[in-house]
Amino acid sequence: MPPPTPDRHFDVLVIGSGAAGLSLALRLADRARVAVLAKAELSQGASLYAQGGVAAVLDAADSFEAHVRDTLEAGAGLCHPDTVDYVVRHGPAAIRWLIDQGVAFTHEDNHEPAYHLTREGGHSRRRVIHAADATGQAIETTLEDRARRHPGIALFEHHIAIDLITRHKLGQREPNRCLGAYALDKTAGRVRMFAAKHIVLATGGASKVYLYTSNPDTSTGDGIAMAWRAGCRAANMEFVQFHPTCLYHPQAKSFLITEAVRGEGGRLLLPDGTPFMKAHDARAELAPRDVVARAIDYEMKRRGIDCVYLDISHKPAEFIVAHFPTIYKRCLSFGYDITRQPIPVVPAAHYTCGGVMTDHNGRTDIDGLYALGECAFTGLHGANRLASNSLLECLVFAEACALAIGAQLAAVPGPDAALPAWDESRVSDADEMVVVSHNWGELRRFMWDYVGIVRTTKRLERARHRVELLQDEIREYYSNFRVTNDLVELRNLALVAELIIRSALARKESRGLHFSRDYPAPDTRHPPHDTVLVPENYPPAI
Ligand code: FAD
Ligand code: SIN
Repeated sequence: MPPPTPDRHFDVLVIGSGAAGLSLALRLADRARVAVLAKAELSQGASLYAQGGVAAVLDAADSFEAHVRDTLEAGAGLCHPDTVDYVVRHGPAAIRWLIDQGVAFTHEDNHEPAYHLTREGGHSRRRVIHAADATGQAIETTLEDRARRHPGIALFEHHIAIDLITRHKLGQREPNRCLGAYALDKTAGRVRMFAAKHIVLATGGASKVYLYTSNPDTSTGDGIAMAWRAGCRAANMEFVQFHPTCLYHPQAKSFLITEAVRGEGGRLLLPDGTPFMKAHDARAELAPRDVVARAIDYEMKRRGIDCVYLDISHKPAEFIVAHFPTIYKRCLSFGYDITRQPIPVVPAAHYTCGGVMTDHNGRTDIDGLYALGECAFTGLHGANRLASNSLLECLVFAEACALAIGAQLAAVPGPDAALPAWDESRVSDADEMVVVSHNWGELRRFMWDYVGIVRTTKRLERARHRVELLQDEIREYYSNFRVTNDLVELRNLALVAELIIRSALARKESRGLHFSRDYPAPDTRHPPHDTVLVPENYPPAI
C-alpha cells in the first residue's frame, strides 16, 4: 500500500519485520495506521531462518512450572522470575494465535490433531512445536503474507532506519518523547523522515558483530544502538549465545544444524569418532548450549582441530529425512549425507541475550518508544537463553505491547507534523568505501578472537582499545560523508561491540554465557546482578 502522505505520518512505526515486528503490526492494524520498515526484503531477518521451533507448554504431561524451572536453570541465576512466569504462561495462547494466522506446524506422525513436539538442550520435556526443521520460514512467510494483504499496514522494504527523533534531540523542553525516525530509502538513495505516535524497535540481534555467526546480514544491532544514542539503558550485553553446531564448510556461511538433531539423538564426536560430551556434563548432548559450545571450543583448542562432528546416522534414514528435510538437502548439497555419515560442525555467534531495557509491555526508558524481540532485554533469558524461548518472547511481548499501545492510541496527540527533514548540507559522497569494508572486517575478527566463547581481561582490554580507535574513525567518516547502508550498520556494530566489551569487563565472574579465565567461577559473595549500562544522556534532563 502506498504511504498516505509524502511526509509519512502514522499511528505506529514498527522498525523491523521479523516475528516480533510483524506480530505487533498485525495485532494493531485493525485499530491503527501502522508502518513497517525493513532494511532488506520483508522476510529477511533471523526469524526466517529459525529451525528448531517455539517452546511452549502444550502437552498434558508438561507444566508451566517445569518450563519455568528449565528457563531459570539455563539462565544461571539471572532470569527475572516474574518475566519468565509471564512468558511461559502466555506461551500456549501465543501458539494458538500463530495457528489461527495459518502457520502449519508439524503434526504427530503427520496426522492431526496432535502436534509433534521436539526436545532441545536444557528442556526437561518435549515442548518445542515446529514446522519440520524450517519453523521460522513457516512463521515468517505466514505473517508476511497477512501483513502484505492488510490495508492498515504500509510496508517500506529496503528502508534502513538511521536514528530516532526525540524531543530532546530537537532541543525541545520536557517531557521527552520519541517522535519518529530517519530512514535511508536504499532504492531512492534518499533519507526520509517517518513520524508516529508510537515507535517500536523490532530490529533483531547483533550477532554480525562476530566473524562467524548463524545469523543473516540484518543482525547488526541497529535497534540497540539507536535506542542507546537516544538515551535508553542497555542490559546484559556480555551474554552472547554461541550456537554449538553450525555446519563447517567454506561455502556454507554458517548454516545452522538445529539443536533438535541432538534432541532426537544426535551425538557429538571427535574426528576419530569418540563421543566427548559426557566428560563435560552429565546431560551430555542435551546440556544447555553454553555448556555444549564451551565443550566444543575446549576440545577444538586443546586438540588443534578445526571442527568436531555431529552424527545422527544411527537413526532410520526416513526419520531423518522427514524431521530434518532442510538440513538433509543443504548438507547433501555440500557433499554430506546425514543419513549415512557424521557432519563437521563448529560453534558460531547466534543470539544476543542483552538489549534495550523494557518492561512487560515493551516500554523503554523513553515515552513513545518500545523494543521487542531480540533487540530487547526483558529479563527472560538471564545469563543464557533456553533453546526456542526466543520466538516465544517475540510473540508474547508483541501481544502485550499491542495492548499497551492500543490503550494509548486516542490519548497521544500527533504524530508531530513539523519534524525537521534530514540535514545533508554538510556532507559529500564517500570517496573511499574501503575504509568501511576494512573496518567491518577488522571489528568482526577482533570480536571473535578477543570477545568470544572464552574471555580474559587482557583480551577484553585489547578489544576495548581497538573499538575506541575504530569509533573515532567511524565518527569522522559519518560526519563528513553521506550515509550508506554499510556505514549505518558499521556505526551500530561498533557501538554494540563497545557495549558488549564494557559489560564483559564489568562482570567479574563466570556465569552462563560469559566465561572469563580470570574469574572462572560464579561470584558467590554477592547476589546475582544484571549488568546495566547507562548512556550519558540518561535520564533525560528535566
Ligand atoms: P529478526 O527476525 O532478526 O528481524 C529483524 C528485522 O529488523 C528484519 O526485518 C530487519 O530487516 C529489520 N531491521 C534491522 N535493523 C533495521 C533498521 N536499521 N532499519 C529497518 N529495519 C531494520 N529462536 C527460537 O526461539 N527457535 C528457533 O528454532 C530458533 N532458531 C534459530 C535459527 C537461526 C539460524 C537463527 C539465526 C536464530 C534462531 N533463533 C531461534 C532465534 C530467533 O530466530 C530470533 O531471536 C528471532 O527470530 C528474532 O526475531 P526478531 O523479530 O526480534 O528479529
Ligand atoms: C536451533 O534450532 O537449534 C535453534 C533454536 C534456538 O536458537 O532457539
